[in-house]
Amino acid sequence: MSDQEVKTESRVFPPPANFVANAAISGMDAYNALCAEAANDYEGFWAKLARENLHWHKPFTTTLDESNAPLYKWFDDGLLNVSYNCLDVNIQKGLGDKIAIIFEADGGEVTKVSYKELHAKVCQFANGLRSLGVKKDDRVVIYMPMSVEGVVAMQACARIGATHSVVFGGFSAKSLQERIVDVGASIVITADEQVRGGKQLPLKSIVDEALGLGECEKVAKVIVYKRTGGNAPFNPARDLWMHDLVANQATECEPEWVNADHPLFILYTSGSTGKPKGVQHSSGGYLLWAMLTMKWTFDVKPSDIFWCTADIGWVTGHTYITYGPLAMGTTEIVFEGIPTYPNAGRFWDMIQKHKATIFYTAPTAIRSLIKAADGDAAIHPNKYDLTSLRLLGSVGEPINPEAWMWYYRNIGGEKCPIVDTFWQTETGGHMITPLPGATPLVPGSCTLPLPGIMAAIVDETGADLPNGQGGILVVKRPWPSMIRNIWGDTERFKKSYFPEELGGKTYLAGDGAIRNKETGYFTITGRIDDVLNVSGHRMGTMEIESALVANPLVAEAAVVGKPDDTTGEAICAFVVLKRSRPTGDEAKQIALELRNWVAKEIGPIAKPKEIRFGDNLPKTRSGKIMRRLLRVLAKGEEITQDVSTLENPAILEQLKQAQ
Ligand code: WT7
Repeated sequence: MSDQEVKTESRVFPPPANFVANAAISGMDAYNALCAEAANDYEGFWAKLARENLHWHKPFTTTLDESNAPLYKWFDDGLLNVSYNCLDVNIQKGLGDKIAIIFEADGGEVTKVSYKELHAKVCQFANGLRSLGVKKDDRVVIYMPMSVEGVVAMQACARIGATHSVVFGGFSAKSLQERIVDVGASIVITADEQVRGGKQLPLKSIVDEALGLGECEKVAKVIVYKRTGGNAPFNPARDLWMHDLVANQATECEPEWVNADHPLFILYTSGSTGKPKGVQHSSGGYLLWAMLTMKWTFDVKPSDIFWCTADIGWVTGHTYITYGPLAMGTTEIVFEGIPTYPNAGRFWDMIQKHKATIFYTAPTAIRSLIKAADGDAAIHPNKYDLTSLRLLGSVGEPINPEAWMWYYRNIGGEKCPIVDTFWQTETGGHMITPLPGATPLVPGSCTLPLPGIMAAIVDETGADLPNGQGGILVVKRPWPSMIRNIWGDTERFKKSYFPEELGGKTYLAGDGAIRNKETGYFTITGRIDDVLNVSGHRMGTMEIESALVANPLVAEAAVVGKPDDTTGEAICAFVVLKRSRPTGDEAKQIALELRNWVAKEIGPIAKPKEIRFGDNLPKTRSGKIMRRLLRVLAKGEEITQDVSTLENPAILEQLKQAQ
């Protein structure tokens, strides 16, 4: 979002009266009272919420243990089970026959699963995993399509205390292998194939390829969910079908009671260096925040039909598909397919069909559906009955005011608040977001931190900045759902998130932000590190550079982001080949080859949109690549900065030209 938009945005949308009347947090006074409660007695605030919202097998006696900061512990001497909290507790409350999941397949087939049925499936699968010797602390990699079975697999791991690590089904064999090795998985759960946009795409064969890349000897079994019955390789000595594994298992399974900080999952995300980070999350604190944000941000009620369009391969799918909605006893929609199949009216059709009341998606999806609706009146949202909706959400990247207004008018019918939720893989759940029954909305602003979240904007030394002055976004106190560690790399955890320059105890989000002078509202201004946000997917520039230089043709590569109307940011790569600089058709051909190479190394989401070839890259005399200048070139803007420190200023002219 441009500074211009931030400064000129003056539209304000007060919370609708029906929300204020019924919301969990009703009115700004109620919000401020909760914030004050947290400020007055921080631990007491969280302890009370943890006692009220979670089922504890053994109550905790210590709320927050800061003795080994920043390795914080929350509620850790308490014992609980996440799956028990999501399923058994709701069945005990009388919700056994309530629909937990409305699953819609890519082709439109609908399957409904009640809480009782889901409980039985999770227990059977958990028993199946136990029969294979899987136990507490083991790591299980899940590489599955969007499916009831995917949710079951995650919940089953939680039930027996195994730590899952879900890998998004769009990642390549190499990315999958790196994660299997790093996390030390003993089991991989996958499907024969996945179905997206009418196409059958491989999963199991990619798992086989990944395991064939080496260092995966620890993987004893591969469990395969039969999704299509298509042609997938099957090795009976190592592989087994999910349906065979669960066939004779009991539908009850005694949960493994774990300490609150037991790692529920590890989810890999990109950082500013080449290697993805295994973000380790807890059980108790994580689940508490998943539930509270369902209540506070989404104001979820027993009658809601909740739909989060994320994939379980990302944190949004973890918190707002697998854990949050189920822990709240909510009925939720799980969707296998893509927003543009069979046409770009798919989301609107599904909202109408399933009478969704809360809809949570990404700005990229909204922007691409705006374009589609503009181009085809037949799938314009005004052709569908969307009156069931009462609340809209946005996540993953800044939403530009124009897209916000379209979403508000065309999807929400000008009656649904939009919660623009700022958070990260590391935060476990929402951090800065409007509350639908309290916060006056301003398009493009994620507004104010949730109660108990001590967000602030500081300079490089950690000093507070006044409103109106842009700086670094930090969180000054630990919170229950925060990242606990980077799997296997405590040093990197400390350096990345709790740098010494900020005192070693302040959480560094990695984003820049500014607060409005009058309202104090936060607007996120973008990453301050070498991380890109492409279609709401986080990508490290170094990761893509490493993939490019691994190609035998490439001598050197530098990757930067450039603004893109649909995807937010697009990947632009500047490449020096070992041979002479190609031009014309040859350049096009090699660019295509390199794009496919990156897709194979990381996954299609990491493909550079644009590749420019040069004889060299702009470097300082000490050999440092000037990415700052490359960003200007990628945007197609004139360089106005001083380039006198460059070793080779002439190269800029050459790199100006897009191929
Ligand atoms: C990064 C985190 C949030 C879960 C999914 C993405 C950006 C996220 C917003 C928002 C502006 C946002 C930030 C953040 N981001 N939400 N509402 N407004 N920016 O999680 O992959 O860990 O990415 O996404 O840059 O640091 P993630």
